[in-house]
Amino acid sequence: MQSHDKNLFPVHHEILNRKEKEELLNQKSVVLWLTGLSGAGKTTLAKYLEQELFSRGYLTQVLDGDNIRTGINSNLGFSDADRHENIRRIAEISKLFLQCGIITINCFISPTDDIRETARAIIGKDDFIEVFVNAPLTVCEERDTKGLYSKARRGEIKEFTGITSPFENPRHADIEIRTDLLSIDESVSKILTFVLPRIEPANS
Ligand code: ADX
Repeated sequence: MQSHDKNLFPVHHEILNRKEKEELLNQKSVVLWLTGLSGAGKTTLAKYLEQELFSRGYLTQVLDGDNIRTGINSNLGFSDADRHENIRRIAEISKLFLQCGIITINCFISPTDDIRETARAIIGKDDFIEVFVNAPLTVCEERDTKGLYSKARRGEIKEFTGITSPFENPRHADIEIRTDLLSIDESVSKILTFVLPRIEPANS
């Protein structure tokens, strides 16, 4: 029989559940999954969205290439297998935030149906909101915010999404944002209209 006598903190042996944490934070948690080409505007929208949610009292965590591919996934590249592993780890991390009552806003190309299905399956479909941040390739290439499209066209970057690596448009996204047609404010309000009812505390 297992003895608890040796435990340092015998009283606090139960991990608190998600509901209790959501109640503490006065919100319901979800995972917002922004998918789209490089330069479509995923991280820009996420930053504005986070500000809007923060000002309404919601706690969020933005995950994107800056904090994931430079850290926990710094050993991964852009082959199919590495993109899968990238997304699998991100989905697992998001699930931990979900259990902690925190709203995650994920900004990853997540280029294929298969990859997005992996994320949905790990997180669970009820907690997964797919947002297609859609700007045509020509527009993203024209913006070329990071100068990567021109490098890819010159052959200096291999397997670049949209150029030498596929991007499959999501067919059943919960929200689609055409960032070439809508302003940032319009885009953020469209997401908020969908998301706010999902994250409002149960007693509101
Ligand atoms: S994903 O395909 O695995 O979901 P992720 O969103 O993490 O990709 O990373 C994409 C970012 O990495 C791009 O916005 C770009 O800045 C950079 N990047 C570097 N090489 C590539 C590449 N070959 N294809 C796409 N993005 C790349």
